[in-house]
Amino acid sequence: MQNKLIQIANDTNKFLKSFIQKQKKTDLIAPIKYGLFSGGKKIRSKIIIDIGHLFNINYKTLIMIGSAVECIHAYSLIHDDLPCMDNDKLRRGKPSTHFKFGEATALLAGSSLLTMAFEILSSAKLNIKKKDKIVLIEELAKCSGHLGLAGGQFLDLNFEHKKVSQKKIIDMQIKKTGKLFSFCCIAPAIIKNKKISEIKSLEKVGFKIGLLFQIADDLIDYSGSSKIAGKKTKKDKKKGKATLISLLKYKNTIKYTNKIKMDIDKKLKKYGSKTKNINETIRYILNRSK
Ligand code: IPE
Ligand code: IPE
Ligand code: MG
Ligand code: MG
Ligand code: MG
Repeated sequence: MQNKLIQIANDTNKFLKSFIQKQKKTDLIAPIKYGLFSGGKKIRSKIIIDIGHLFNINYKTLIMIGSAVECIHAYSLIHDDLPCMDNDKLRRGKPSTHFKFGEATALLAGSSLLTMAFEILSSAKLNIKKKDKIVLIEELAKCSGHLGLAGGQFLDLNFEHKKVSQKKIIDMQIKKTGKLFSFCCIAPAIIKNKKISEIKSLEKVGFKIGLLFQIADDLIDYSGSSKIAGKKTKKDKKKGKATLISLLKYKNTIKYTNKIKMDIDKKLKKYGSKTKNINETIRYILNRSK
């Protein structure tokens, strides 16, 4: 699994480097590259590859779509670390982007990464049908905006130091993290013109993988070491973040993750032995916090 993830991360980085290389140079390129290439697992790209494998989609196409998603993810982390949000100085074992380049530069590099995702999806080099491209652009935009990541980040901040129900925490986490994972799961099915019912089912798989991912991240914050995580840990409690661990406590949170894992297995069962890779990725996510 580790080797595959590294290979996909390298291929994603290679595509992004050459995409940026072909653009005119600006002073925002340094912070943009810092946000993209200063580490980062590229797990979202891996999920696109894994689900793309279920539908026999060309690797290069999947890497391009993964690269677009990783641009959105990199933007979200740059903004997430800003003083007006989580106010974190350490990311991937290095100074966070605003700490290194200044707040205004980090904000603008982040915004540029958000739009770069759509430059990639609309580029002629992405060799899929034009009408599918438009659907991908629409879906990724929805997953990123107020109905998705940005909306979830708003709720995350809004819920600080408040007693929040399990339902609301899950809704917030699905928005801030799950929506981008759901895009990764539906994009290959959209390209293959699958039925709406299949796309909806994969969207749910994505929500659940994203939820597992966020819970693992919260567990790492709860009991992991800053050295391994590459970011400060034990900060969610100090900030009064509404997480499932804060509400359900450790044991029940783990029980809940097992239930989600079973729901995912049920939905993916029909794809048979081709699910080996995605199952491996899900196991990797669950084991991260152990
Ligand atoms: C961290 O995401 C933020 C969350 C959504 C939990 P990742 O753990 O994917 O961050 P990198 O890119 O690998 O550093
Ligand atoms: C971030 O969640 C989710 C995003 C959409 C960026 P966190 O705030 O928990 O991520 P970390 O722990 O700072 O990486
Ligand atoms: Mg945050
Ligand atoms: Mg944060
Ligand atoms: Mg976190």
